[in-house]
Amino acid sequence: MNTTKTITIGRNTANPLTVKRLGYGTMRLTGEQVWGEPANRAEALELLQATTAVGVDFLDTADYYGEDVANRLIAEALYPYQDNLVICTKVGASRGADKSWNIYDRPENLRTSIERNLKTLKMKQIQLVHFRVMPGTDTPFEESMAAMFELQREGKILHVGLSNVTPDELNKALGMGKIASVENAFGYEQRTSFTVHGQEVRGLQEVMEACITNGIPMIPFFSLQSSLPNKENKISVIAEKYGATPAQINLAWLLHYNDLILPIPGTSKLSHFRENVKAAEIQLSKEDMEFLG
Ligand SMILES: NC(=O)c1ccc[n+]([C@@H]2O[C@H](COP(=O)([O-])OP(=O)(O)OC[C@H]3O[C@@H](n4cnc5c(N)ncnc54)[C@H](OP(=O)(O)O)[C@@H]3O)[C@@H](O)[C@H]2O)c1
Repeated sequence: MNTTKTITIGRNTANPLTVKRLGYGTMRLTGEQVWGEPANRAEALELLQATTAVGVDFLDTADYYGEDVANRLIAEALYPYQDNLVICTKVGASRGADKSWNIYDRPENLRTSIERNLKTLKMKQIQLVHFRVMPGTDTPFEESMAAMFELQREGKILHVGLSNVTPDELNKALGMGKIASVENAFGYEQRTSFTVHGQEVRGLQEVMEACITNGIPMIPFFSLQSSLPNKENKISVIAEKYGATPAQINLAWLLHYNDLILPIPGTSKLSHFRENVKAAEIQLSKEDMEFLG
C-alpha cells in the first residue's frame, strides 16, 4: 500500500504547513513524572539535534513538560531553528510544585501560557497550538476556544488545534473557526478509550473518523505505549515478517491507517528515536493491514 510522505496542516488557509508524516514528541525528554531535568541531559540534546539532522520537521511540546524543561531543551539544541521546522505546543494545563497536573484554561491562563511558550522557545509566533481540554474543567469550552482564536488574530498563534477532545467538542469548535489539527490518544490497541488523570476519555475512534471526514490531520499520542513492551500480538507477527521491531510496525500501521495521521512517538533514548524514524520506510501490504485489523 502506498502512503503519502507528507501532511499539510492548515489546508485551505493562507499559511499551510507541510511536514513529513513522522514527527517527534518531546514529553519523554523530561525527568520522571514529566518533571525536571532529563536523567541524561547530553543525550536529550543530542536526540533533539538528531531530529532535524535526519529530516524530522515536526516537534510536539508543551510548557508544562518539565515545567518548561522540554521547551528549554528544544531552544538550546535547535535555536536558531531551520526554516522548515514546525514546533507545536499545547495550552490548557499547568503544573503545581508538587508535580500535579492542573486545569489552566481560562482565557487569561491561555494567554499566559502562550507568552511563556513564545519566550522559552524564542519565537514571535507559534505555528500550531493545541488547546488541551482538561477533564473536570468548569470553564465553558466556547470561552477557551474564543480566547484561542483571539490569540490567533493577534498573530501569536498561526494555527489553532485541539487536544483530548470529544466528538461533540470538535463539532462545536468547527462551528467557531478553522481547526488545523487534533491531538488525541490513538494507537493499534487503543482505539476506544484511555484513562488520563484518573478519568476515562471515550470516543477515540469517533474523533479519528470525524478528523478523516473533515480532512483534519490527526496527531495521535500514546500510540506506542498501548502495545509495548513487545506484547505478543499481531504486531509481533508482522514485525517478524519484516525484520522490524514492534515499535516500528505500530508506527507503520498508523501511517497506513490513514494519510491524515501524523504520529509523534515519544522517547528519551536516541537509539529508540533512530529506530522509530525508520518506520516511515516500511511498506505494509493490503494483506498485512487486513491481518492487523
Ligand atoms: N496532547 C496530550 O494530551 C498528550 C498526552 C501525552 C503525550 N503527548 C505527546 O505525545 C508524545 C507521544 O506520547 P508518549 O511519549 O507519552 O507515548 P508513546 O509515544 O506512546 O510511547 C513512549 C514510550 O514508549 C517507549 N518507546 C519509544 N520508542 C520505543 C522503542 N523503539 N522501543 C521500545 N520502547 C520505546 C518510551 O520509552 P523510552 O524513553 O525508554 O524510549 C516511552 O516509554 C509525547 O511525547 C508528547 O509529546 C500529548
